Amino acid sequence: MYDLVLKGKFLKDGKLIEGSIGILNGKISRISLGELKGEETLKIGRGKVILPGMIDTHVHLRDFRQKPKETIKTGTMAALHGGITTVFDMPNTDPPITSAETFRLREEAFERKAYSDYALSFLIAGNCDEAKKVQAEFYKIFMGASTGGIYSKDFEEDFECAPGIVSVHAEDAGTIMKSPERPPEAEILAISQALDVSERLKKPLNICHVSTAGGMKLIMKKNLPWVSFEVTPHHLFLTRKDYEGNTFLKVYPPLRDAGDRAFLWRNFDKIPIIASDHAPHTLEDKENGAAGIPGLETEVALLLDAANRGMISLKDIVEKMHTNPIRIFGIRNKGLDVGKDADFTIIDMKQEWVVKPEEFYTKSKWSPWEGRKLRGKVVMTLLRGQVVMEDDEIIGKPQGVRIDAGKG
Ligand code: DOR
Ligand code: ZN
Ligand code: ZN
Repeated sequence: MYDLVLKGKFLKDGKLIEGSIGILNGKISRISLGELKGEETLKIGRGKVILPGMIDTHVHLRDFRQKPKETIKTGTMAALHGGITTVFDMPNTDPPITSAETFRLREEAFERKAYSDYALSFLIAGNCDEAKKVQAEFYKIFMGASTGGIYSKDFEEDFECAPGIVSVHAEDAGTIMKSPERPPEAEILAISQALDVSERLKKPLNICHVSTAGGMKLIMKKNLPWVSFEVTPHHLFLTRKDYEGNTFLKVYPPLRDAGDRAFLWRNFDKIPIIASDHAPHTLEDKENGAAGIPGLETEVALLLDAANRGMISLKDIVEKMHTNPIRIFGIRNKGLDVGKDADFTIIDMKQEWVVKPEEFYTKSKWSPWEGRKLRGKVVMTLLRGQVVMEDDEIIGKPQGVRIDAGKG
């Protein structure tokens, strides 16, 4: 007897099948093409699909001294609302997570306040001794300054020091000091350097928010099996023209021209990860030029809308926001398999809705897609066997758990 049985259409190994998923003690206990008996049964009706819980490998949840921008509570509630069951927290906080002591404070804050599951990171910039004291799920390096202003003076030394996989913000410090508008060359040069170092050291590298054709070409050409990369929804769905009409769309790396965006779409199959780079700021900070776009509550829906338009498939979404993140970051307790956490994102492909940022859980109450009608919506989120979001309402208390990954 299962605690809960999910009955309906789900994607398994890229195929849409009809069946039942038996959940026991928060874990997937059986996946069946037939009927299963449960204490409780959730029938996922017509037009709806059960996806495995979506994972966002790149979010800035602020908190600490920047609670007006976002807190761990509002950020992880936003995640569940958007159909994201696991978030990867970025360390460019205030204070930054550059010491074992701030890392410990981050651990404590997430234990108390997280609604979704999470991975924690540590920022390396000349502080190798401290980096060696912590066990983070991933390590972050900024090659050039972004929000928070900390960046590596010696990328190779910092990269070599990292005790685990590194996510890198690849924009060259020298180039952006000379050209504050951050041209494509800033990204291309940094990606080229990061690839060279990773090739020499044969160490896992994840390149964040790749936005240029030139950058993505370099990665594809080197084709190192231990190198992965992310692309954001804003670089897939917006261009520099949008920014020219709305300075709130300032973001690092910046929105690019139509040619770069077309290249990302033409090579969509080669993109391993889609991640939001959710970067909330107060409206006042945005008016004063802060860079960053909130994305947790629109990213899955934008991809569903694209699927409805025939641009991508549900299989693509699951690969780039579930299967590949699990493989690349070595997450042991997630995946649509027996014995893994019962995390699910239930979608309605037919439902149309209008993006209204005032209804978001994030404190960042604006969106590039405000007023946009999207077809396809996340209607329910399950975390380890519990319904934690239904019809835009967060249900229950903070019960996020740190993922089982990395360590060493
Ligand atoms: O636009 C950005 N905002 N790019 C980043 O790299 C950081 C982020 C933030 O933390 O605000
Ligand atoms: Zn970045
Ligand atoms: Zn970021």
